[in-house]
Amino acid sequence: MNNIINLQINFDKNQLLKEINSLPLKKNKSKVWKKIRDEAMREFFKESKTWYKYEIKNSSQYKEINRLYKLFKPDTIEVFKQLANSELPRHKDFKIKVAVNMLLSDELAPITFDDEEVYYKNALVNVSKHHSVKSYKKDRLLLKFGWTTKSFEQVYEELKILEQLENKNNFYLIHSHNRMRVDYSKCNTLNEFINTCSKELTNIFHSNFIIYLQRLSYYLKKCKSYREIGPFQGGATAHALLEKLDYYEVIDIDMSNFSKLLFNYGNITCFETNSLDHDLNKNTDFLFIDGLHEYDQVLEEAVMFSPYTNKYIMFHDTISHPEVLRAINTFLSISNDWHIIENDKRAAGYMIIERK
Ligand SMILES: C[S@@+](CC[C@H](N)C(=O)[O-])C[C@H]1O[C@@H](n2cnc3c(N)ncnc32)[C@H](O)[C@@H]1O
Repeated sequence: MNNIINLQINFDKNQLLKEINSLPLKKNKSKVWKKIRDEAMREFFKESKTWYKYEIKNSSQYKEINRLYKLFKPDTIEVFKQLANSELPRHKDFKIKVAVNMLLSDELAPITFDDEEVYYKNALVNVSKHHSVKSYKKDRLLLKFGWTTKSFEQVYEELKILEQLENKNNFYLIHSHNRMRVDYSKCNTLNEFINTCSKELTNIFHSNFIIYLQRLSYYLKKCKSYREIGPFQGGATAHALLEKLDYYEVIDIDMSNFSKLLFNYGNITCFETNSLDHDLNKNTDFLFIDGLHEYDQVLEEAVMFSPYTNKYIMFHDTISHPEVLRAINTFLSISNDWHIIENDKRAAGYMIIERK
C-alpha cells in the first residue's frame, strides 16, 4: 500500500484560514528530542526556530475545523507552520501513526518518503513511515487530523465508508485521478471548462499538476490531428479543442464521464472500448496516452499506436505511476523511431517523445 492517498475534500478555505490565523502558534518542541541520535536532528526537535505548532484540544469554537473534526473523528488536531526556506528533517511522527493532512498554502514543496516524493494538497498520510519536507521559498501551513492508535489501513477503510456516505458533498479518495472528479456542470463555454479544470486540479493537487496541459497545448500548435487514450471527463481534450485541429479522436473504456459540452467545440470521434481492442486505420500527429496506468497496458498501447502517430506521443503520470515510466523505457529500448523531448518530474510527471 502507498504511504499517501490523496483526498478530495470540500471545505471553506477562507473560513479555515481565518480560524487558523487566529491561533497562537509556538515554536515546536518535541517531547522525544533526547532520544534522537543525530545531533542536528536533536537540535531541530528540541526547539525548532522554523517549525511552529498549535494543538487544538477543543475545536467547538472553530466552525470549519470542528465540521472537519466531526467528519474525520480523529484523536488529535494540530496546526503547523514550516517557515519559508527551512526544511523539516527526516523523521517519523511521535504518537501519531496516521494523519489527514490539509495543506493550506497555495504553493509548496512535496513530502519526501524514502522511496518517493509526492505533491499533495489534502491526503491521508502514513506518518509512521520516515518522511521529510524540503525547504521552499514560502511558508507551509498544515492542518493535521491525527490518529494515535489506528493504523494507516484502518483509517483508510474508515475513509472508504465516509466516501460512500459523503460523495454528494465531494469527498473522495483519489488513488489515481480516475476518481478525481471536477464539477463542470456550471460551465457553458470551452474557456469556462478549461479555467475550471485548471483551478480545480490546482486546488486538489498543486499548481505544477497542470503543466502537462500547458505543454500539450504547446505541441498541438505544431499538429493537425489528436488522439487521446483515456479522456475521462475531457480535461486534456478541452485543451486540445482550443487548438482547432482538423481531427479529434478519443478512446475510453467508459465514456460516461466525458463532458457532452465538448461536442460543441469540435468534431470528436469517440470510441468506447479497451484501447487495445481499438481498430486502428488512421494516423494522427499527436497521441496522448493516459488510460490504464499499468506496465503491460502502456507498453502495448505504445507499440500498437506508435506506427499510427506522425509526430508526438505524450504519457501522463510517469512519476505518480512508476509502471508508466518503466513501460516507456522498455518501448524506447525496442523502438528506434522515437526520442525523448521532455521528461518532466514535477507533480504527477509526464514524458513527451518525438518521432526522429
Ligand atoms: C487518468 S484518467 C484520464 C484523465 C484525462 N486524460 C485528463 O488528462 O484529464 C484515465 C482514463 O482512462 C480510462 N481507461 C482505463 N482503462 C482503459 C482502457 N483499457 N482503455 C481505454 N481507456 C481506459 C478510464 O476510464 C479513465 O477515464
